[in-house]
Amino acid sequence: MATEDRAELLAALEWQFEMGVDEAIGEKPVDRTRLAPEPRRSQHVQVAPKRASAQAEPLPLMPTRSTSPVPVSAGNISRGENEPARAIAKAMAERCDDLEALRAAMDAFEFCDLKKGARNFVFSDGNPDARLMIVGEAPGREEDQKGFPFVGRAGRLLDRMFESIGLARSSPNPGSAIYITNVIPWRPPNNRDPTAEEVRMLMPFVERHVELADPEVIVLMGNTACGAILGRKGITRLRGHWTEALGKPVMPMFHPAALLRDGLKKRESWSDLLAIGERLSA
Ligand code: URA
Repeated sequence: MATEDRAELLAALEWQFEMGVDEAIGEKPVDRTRLAPEPRRSQHVQVAPKRASAQAEPLPLMPTRSTSPVPVSAGNISRGENEPARAIAKAMAERCDDLEALRAAMDAFEFCDLKKGARNFVFSDGNPDARLMIVGEAPGREEDQKGFPFVGRAGRLLDRMFESIGLARSSPNPGSAIYITNVIPWRPPNNRDPTAEEVRMLMPFVERHVELADPEVIVLMGNTACGAILGRKGITRLRGHWTEALGKPVMPMFHPAALLRDGLKKRESWSDLLAIGERLSA
């Protein structure tokens, strides 16, 4: 292959990577420019819930849909053009009477563009009756492939951390189990941070998730979870201090991915784990 061809191909590959195309999902390439165009979506879309409840009311109409990548900044989840989508998320979440209904409603939610780029919808893992619920940020590559939260390298560390205080996602006993979810159920392209608008749009689902799982204690893993649920960021200051949110005691902790980057943080996380263990045994 000529050097210029190789350089051109590499430049094209780099460009694709920057656009978020960071893995092959099929054996053969598909030239989508040659496929027949999909039928246009109407500007007014009504979302039908998958699981109708007896006193179901019509959901609000969605006037337009669009997203803009606004980076999440400390605690200020901005209001914007996704407010109608958030209203729909709220209406859908409120109709769910159990976790299975919530899983189905979220899976059917069509207004978050992250869904288009994700391979799998990632809802939760562990024991839904657990006394402890962990809320992380968003699926990464392995979570997207397998459809479960925290199953990559950071997830394996998370399992070891909680096993050290006698808790495991596989435990059938609520007292020694954990239940795990994320603020965002679809993998952001290239593992970028979720935007403020994406977080705000999906928060009604997270709130309902906590309400239905009804844990005794919540652990927030990292800044995105803190920004979403506490409305505050700054994990270095927040971690290790019990606070309250959604009517529950909440412990913010360093995200396990941060511990993989900086092993010195493990000491503080160990102290946070002991505080959680103490609280659960009180
Ligand atoms: N990081 C998260 O916050 N959640 C996951 O599910 C995986 C990695």
